[in-house]
Parts: sequence; C-alpha cells; structure tokens
Amino acid sequence: MEFLAKSAQPEKHKSGCLAVTIFEGGALSVAAQKVDEATDGTISKALKLGDFTGASGQSALLPAPSGIQAQRLLLIGLGKLPVAAKSFRNSISSALAKAASSKTKDLAICFDGVDVTGQNSEWMVSQTGELAATTTYAFDQFKSKDNKKAVNLTKITFLANDKKSQTALSSAATTAQAIANGMDTTRTLGNLPGNECPPAYLAKEAKKIARGQKKLTIKVIEEKEMKELGMGALLSVSAGSDQPAKLIIMEFKGGKKGDAPHILVGKGVTFDTGGISLKPGADMDQMKFDMCGAASVLGTMQAVVEMDLALNVIGVVTSAENMLSGGATRPGDIVTTMAGLTVEVLNTDAEGRLVLCDALTYVKRFKPASVIDIATLTGACLVALGNHTSGMLGNDDEVMDNLRFAADSTQDAVWQLPMGEEYMRQLDSPFADMGNIGGRNAGTITAACFLSRFTEDYPWAHLDIAGTAWVSAGPKKGATGRPVPLLTQYLINQV
Ligand code: BES
Ligand code: MN
Ligand code: ZN
Repeated sequence: MEFLAKSAQPEKHKSGCLAVTIFEGGALSVAAQKVDEATDGTISKALKLGDFTGASGQSALLPAPSGIQAQRLLLIGLGKLPVAAKSFRNSISSALAKAASSKTKDLAICFDGVDVTGQNSEWMVSQTGELAATTTYAFDQFKSKDNKKAVNLTKITFLANDKKSQTALSSAATTAQAIANGMDTTRTLGNLPGNECPPAYLAKEAKKIARGQKKLTIKVIEEKEMKELGMGALLSVSAGSDQPAKLIIMEFKGGKKGDAPHILVGKGVTFDTGGISLKPGADMDQMKFDMCGAASVLGTMQAVVEMDLALNVIGVVTSAENMLSGGATRPGDIVTTMAGLTVEVLNTDAEGRLVLCDALTYVKRFKPASVIDIATLTGACLVALGNHTSGMLGNDDEVMDNLRFAADSTQDAVWQLPMGEEYMRQLDSPFADMGNIGGRNAGTITAACFLSRFTEDYPWAHLDIAGTAWVSAGPKKGATGRPVPLLTQYLINQV
C-alpha cells in the first residue's frame, strides 16, 4: 500500500476512484460540493432518492458521472456533525472495504471541509492510511495460487487544496506509510505458524530490518551467553524446546549521542503450549500469536528506521518456545533470575513473565529514559478488557500519561489497571523469593507486579496485549498489527 499527497481539485484529478464525504442530513463537504457542481448534481440526486443518506458507515460506489476525471465515485457517509473520531474510523473503514472489493487500483480522497472533533486533516490521513493497510492486508503466502484473493487497491492519494496543506498532508502520509508498513510486518510475523517462526526467525527478521541501515545495530544473545549472564528465568522457558532462545537487541541511534534511549521490550514466545502445565487442546493453535509483543517491537523499529526518527530507541525481543520434553521445567522448580531473585515456577504456563524479567534486568545497562514492555501476557486481560483495549500498568505516571495521549490520537486504546503492595503479596512463595503466579484473582495485575520487581531502576510501563494483538475467530482471524500505531506515535511524541 502506497500513500501520497497531491495538490489538486477533486473533480479534475485522474484516478481509479475519487472519494468524497457527506454528512448525515445531506450536508456536503467542500470536496463533495465541488463534485456535485461539476457533475450536474449527481450527489444531490443520490441524496434525494434516499438510498444514500450520509449516515455513519454508509457508502456508495458509483461509476463516475461525466464531469469528473476519475473512473468511479465513492460517497462516504460520515454521520451527523460533529463527527466523533470513532465514527470517522468506522465510516472510513467500511468505505475502504467497498473500494477494495472493486477493481480500482488507486483511490483519491479529499478531506477538504471535513471536521472531526478535536482532530485535523493530518490525523484523518494517518487514520485512513492505517485502515487502508488493514483492509487490504492479506496473509496468503501458504495458499496456492488459485486460493489467493486478488487485492487491486494499492495506492491512496490524499488531495490537498493548496501547496501549503499539501506539505502537511505529505508528511502525514509519510508517517502513515511507516506505520502501515510496520503493522504489516507485525501482522505477518504474528500470523506465521510456530514451525515457520521459531526464535531464530525473529532474529533473522531483525537483521533484515537492519540491513543497510547505518543507525541500527543488532546483537543477538545466544543461550551460552544467557547462561553467563545468569538469565535462569528466560532459559527455563526454552529448556523443553529444541529451538534455542534468542535475546535480540536492536539499537537505533537517531538522537544525540548520550541521550537516554527509549526502550521497547517484546514478549516473543513463538509457541506457548503451556509447557508441563499443558494448555487444553481447543484453540491452542492461537498460541502461535504469543510472540505478537515481539512482532510489535520489530514493526515499530522498522517504522522508526523508515521515518529516520531523531531519537535513540532500543528494541528488545526476548524469545523462546514453551514446549515439553524430558528437559522441560517442572512445576515447583526454582530458577534464579539475572537480577538474583529466585522464582518458584508454580505454573510453567506463566512463562511470559519469565522471558521478560531477564530482558528487563538486562536493559538497565542502557540507563533508559523509559522502558515499555509489550506482551500477550494474561488471559485475564481478555476477561477484564475484551478485544478492544490493551491493559496498561507501570511505575511511572509520566510514561503512562504519554502512552495514553498517543493511544487517544491513534485510537489504539489502552486502559490503566492498578498495582500495589496488597497485590504483590499474592506472589509470595514459601520456598523462593517469589512464585510466578498469584492465584486466580487479578491475574493481569499480579503478572505486572511480578515484572515490577525487575523494573525498579527506571520509568516503566507494561502493555498487556492479550486481547488486542489478534482477532481469534471469523473471516478476520489473524494478527492486528496493534499496538504499532500506539508505540510509534509514543516515540514520535518524544522527539
Ligand atoms: N500467552 C498466555 C496468555 C494468553 C492466553 C494470551 C490466552 C491470550 C490468550 C500466557 O503465557 C499464559 O498462559 N498465561 C496464563 C497465566 C496463568 C497460568 C497465571 C493465563 O493467562 O492463563
Ligand atoms: Mn503461557
Ligand atoms: Zn504465553
């Protein structure tokens, strides 16, 4: 998917399809008005017939009437004024689905005169870009030719009224492009099955992103070095697997020398069987998505490189496969973390926190400005927040405020859950410094409490993306690419 901006009048611009917006009740946007005038009132006629009312989520795709240079005309209903951000997304998303189901290869869209509460036209460009990438994304590399669905739509041109707004839209399109490409990478890594995407594959992907990039260096820590570093928790997860664990460090030096880096740490469990505390068989295939946190770090790093962000950013992927074998960790085993804390592994299925804690200790050496870990950590987060909102916990209000701010603008929602001593006590163990589970209640919180023992030395936030990283059923089953928009925007805002 390619995005660009052009300064042109909508009715004079040549394209496969021209899209303009209409508000419920019949008010036309500036662009729609121009098209209506140029086409002898085509839009007014459509409204008069009553088939198209401009309701939110409604759209109509017509062969272009004479008077405009495009081959098709797409009318997008935006609903009643003032248009809320969510309603804008919903409308654009269904209109894009309609455009993508046609034969049109390129879509020109003009937001002139569109008013979304609290947002400007750059925001409309970035939202449209993200939604277009999502609508046209296909994961079909394992389908034979006859079973691949052709997607024709590959280009979106945002039309600006003049040179000045073109410059603004151009830069928004460039950012949208980086985020869309990052999301595609994240989606594809997430969708890859466990046999195709072991930890070594994530390391390969990190190297691919860094290829030819002077500002990005990659280091892969292998199991031998993990042992020397004392990463007993991470190693206890890969112990039952034939696939060695990998700790991948991607350092992007876009900022000033000596500026403290912002660090992203992603959970990369490439398949989570639960280990000896085996998961039930139903839906276990979905545990190939247990590396979506890692995938979001790789996608965001790709976006950072593509935007050449003036910021020091470090992406860390902590990756292992949680399998069973004679060498697998047993429930009750006690392991020693890199931080020196001992952990009684009461449930081998609570492995995410084990791969994360050693990585969170490792990153102390970078003296970070902030650390955000991203993980499909707990089923409890799905119960609490469902599929729409990621859980957020942490030890630093400023980092969490910044994440909330970025989440609001990208519509990649987060919701904060509390932490505290009283929850921490649920992790007490009679035999070690702590257990790796805290009982049935408040599972998302006790998981974050576990992590917080390893993040005391820097500002930290944790994102539990168990509910948001993938869609688990239906025609849209697959990785979502979230929270790449949120993370990328968070980093952009730090420049
Ligand atoms: N990867 C899972 C969490 C998960 C489960 C994410 C379902 C999305 C959907 C994680 O490793 C896990 O198994 N967590 C356990 C923790 C429990 C044993 C304390 C869980 O949530 O059941
Ligand atoms: Mn698990
Ligand atoms: Zn897991």
